[in-house]
Amino acid sequence: MTVESTTTQGFARFRRLRSSEGLRRLVRETRLTPEEFVYPLFVVHGQDVREEIPSMPGQYHLSLDLLAAEAEDLRSLGVRAVLLFGLPAEKDDEGSEAYAGDGIVQQAVRALKSADPDLTVITDVCLCEYTSHGHCGVISAGGAGADSEVDNDASLELLARTAVSHARAGADLVAPSDMMDGRVAAIRAALDVANLGSTPIMAYSAKYASAFYGPFREAAESAPQFGDRRGYQMDPPNAREALREIEADIDEGADIVMVKPALPYLDVIAQARASFDLPLAAYNVSGEYAMIHAAARNGWLDGPRAVLETLTSIKRAGADIVITYHAKEAARLLA
Ligand code: PBG
Repeated sequence: MTVESTTTQGFARFRRLRSSEGLRRLVRETRLTPEEFVYPLFVVHGQDVREEIPSMPGQYHLSLDLLAAEAEDLRSLGVRAVLLFGLPAEKDDEGSEAYAGDGIVQQAVRALKSADPDLTVITDVCLCEYTSHGHCGVISAGGAGADSEVDNDASLELLARTAVSHARAGADLVAPSDMMDGRVAAIRAALDVANLGSTPIMAYSAKYASAFYGPFREAAESAPQFGDRRGYQMDPPNAREALREIEADIDEGADIVMVKPALPYLDVIAQARASFDLPLAAYNVSGEYAMIHAAARNGWLDGPRAVLETLTSIKRAGADIVITYHAKEAARLLA
């Protein structure tokens, strides 16, 4: 029978509810609000620095003195959470500015929380922006040739120290992105010992070794100086393994889990949503942002529509929280 698709008195069954914006709005299954967006910020040393990142048009390196104005801007747009990345004054083998009390991120947390105590400040916990070799952990003694030489357990201690120093500075949520095994447990234990038991962890649980991080690595000056990250980030063809990673992070104490990148992994987001009931975040990464931007600049697609369609797809797949460089633009479009 084809009753479902036939017309009655000239009105096709599925088209009836598409005939006006009012009806479309009424039956919409997925809605976007700026409150579920997290806006990444790249913080740098210096004064009055607001430098556009070439690989990410519309995104900036910002110095500490400009963060209060940025917080104000975000508040007026209804974007209520940020994710901080820092560019250190100097890099070294152990990434020591990552866990320095007066490191760039620690200072940025204090500046943002004093400008707007209601802003949710999330910090990315990783060593790659701070190490001279650009890897997310420390290199085994004598090693200098392959990413498999990133020493898992030696890295855990420094990652935990980083998370504790971020939380001490006032971070509302710490987000380890390094992909070392066991880091959520190490960070949870270190936070608890430091009397920071109320600080939650958002784990980059299923983080893939993706080509879509290219623009970010330019922005954060964090490209590995040798090898790549395939020895610790996930292999793109694997989805079942993503569920095991997420499960392990939950067992270790993660409060929010994440899939990253978002668009090439919508299936993983949907499977994670179906398998776990923790809050689920998805990271709409730098390469996804740059692609839309580049195509829109060339007049090849309608940028604003592509942005909203993209964010809607990530939410429809099952994400509760969307980390996105489009946050401010999307908030403006939704207003
Ligand atoms: C740090 C980190 C990266 C991103 C977030 N945290 C880069 C990487 O793993 O190489 C990527 C974010 C983006 O591309 O927008 N490990």
